[in-house]
Amino acid sequence: MDELLSQIEFETISPATRLLKAAVVHPLVNYLPAGLLKGVLRLSRSELAAANWADPGGWRSMVISYNGRCRQWADKLLVAGGTIPMALRNRRRLAGKVLAHLIDQAHSDPVQVLCVGAGPGMIIIDAMVQARRAAVATLVDLRDDAHQYASDLARRHGLGDRIRFVTGDARDIGKLADCRPEVVKMIGICEYLSDEEIGQIASALAGVMPPGGAILFNSLSKSHGTDRFFRRVFGLHMIHRSPQDLQEIMARAGFGDFVSIGEPLGVYHVILGRRRGLQPAINGGLEPRRP
Ligand SMILES: C[S@@+](CC[C@H](N)C(=O)[O-])C[C@H]1O[C@@H](n2cnc3c(N)ncnc32)[C@H](O)[C@@H]1O
Repeated sequence: MDELLSQIEFETISPATRLLKAAVVHPLVNYLPAGLLKGVLRLSRSELAAANWADPGGWRSMVISYNGRCRQWADKLLVAGGTIPMALRNRRRLAGKVLAHLIDQAHSDPVQVLCVGAGPGMIIIDAMVQARRAAVATLVDLRDDAHQYASDLARRHGLGDRIRFVTGDARDIGKLADCRPEVVKMIGICEYLSDEEIGQIASALAGVMPPGGAILFNSLSKSHGTDRFFRRVFGLHMIHRSPQDLQEIMARAGFGDFVSIGEPLGVYHVILGRRRGLQPAINGGLEPRRP
């Protein structure tokens, strides 16, 4: 595990910057009038704000945060220096690395991967590029334009024939995904779903996954300190849950042997669970540990 994590270049925040954000920046952005902040973002032609206003938490805002290079000054501040975008980039690197490891440890040939709420596909494409073994992935998302972006990206990486796209609602996953995935990725989706919806999706997945199959999902902590800003200004209503909260939901659906790995900003944990069954779970060096 430590060797795997040591290969990742995470973004971090110095204690002085952390203090400055908590004492000055976050109170300002959280409590200045929302109309004023929206006006400034509109005037500065913020692409991140526009993407969230059009589709809060949608795939375009992920691409902007992941790429991290922006033209407008407001986006430079928000995307390069904002805690959530930095944590998102950390989560992408962490989830991509763990997914690549899971693909290499899996048994099916090619390895069957299912991505729920796949968005721009950047994490699974990162993983497929890094993995030594061949995988085929089914990407499920509500939006065709997300699939179009992911399809172009996959083609640019020579993976065009390894990815299948299904447009639909993850809450109907039982009807949508006609595969038997050994690895499931639910990164960046649970924070938009209720406990009941996550439980229902996870139960449907448990019904088609082989024992020992892996599910990867993430928690979200309020430690980023900007929830009020995101709700009022971006219209982004994310549900914050601890790793323990999510593990309990997943455990009720038939998963166990959880391994929870935090990114260094403390905003996201990426959590690996295993489909319980008759076979012992194979963690391939990722030993269960408490969050
Ligand atoms: C925050 S983005 C995360 C994208 C990607 N998983 C990642 O982490 O880079 C959330 C994605 O989930 C999709 N989504 C949200 N609710 C969904 C649902 N009920 N069914 C399918 N997709 C959904 C959105 O369209 C969006 O592309």
